[in-house]
Amino acid sequence: MPSTPLSDHVEALLATEGPLPIVAAGDPVLRRPAQPLDGQLSDTLLARLIEAMRVTMHAAPGVGLAAPQIGLPLRLAVIEDAAGVPEEVRAVRGRVPQPFRVLINPSYDGVGARRVAFYEGCLSVPGYQAVVARHERVQLRALDEQGRAVDEEFTGWPARIVQHETDHLNGTLYLDRAELRSLSSTQDRASLERWAQPTPELAAKELGFTLQGSD
Ligand code: NI
Repeated sequence: MPSTPLSDHVEALLATEGPLPIVAAGDPVLRRPAQPLDGQLSDTLLARLIEAMRVTMHAAPGVGLAAPQIGLPLRLAVIEDAAGVPEEVRAVRGRVPQPFRVLINPSYDGVGARRVAFYEGCLSVPGYQAVVARHERVQLRALDEQGRAVDEEFTGWPARIVQHETDHLNGTLYLDRAELRSLSSTQDRASLERWAQPTPELAAKELGFTLQGSD
């Protein structure tokens, strides 16, 4: 396969061993719609890229990583969540384990009107978290790493991850959808634990915002 500007870019990224540097908010690559993946990369190069993204996501650590977050304007993301949280949090947030998945050219639609509001963060906005009201259920359409069509409903926390990562590919950061008065530092243990309870109800009261979740 002939080299292209995109494949050269990927080869350059993969020339270094280990986790890739993560691009932070303020870089225009996070604000531009990414281009569909449509045969620009050989199967081998794509497989190497996916593996590097998996390693980077684990090392961060995070539960999802979109290609623009490593500087690639490509509609590709990986997700995986071991859901290592207390049972009470798991039950309230629907944070069930999400096995590793590759999302190529994903898009989603909300299923039903219900939205749920919880704290979330982003590897490209380090040190902060904020409350985002999102669809509790979404229908995801994408391709997997073998090029097979995916048309699948996600619910609970996996639905949140799918929305967050797909938004990245459209140049949208979670802060665009967040309740800004909920913005909280996660830089030390005390601030991280302040809003670690299952729901952000107390945060809404103490920080002065309205929870946007609805039935
Ligand atoms: Ni993110």
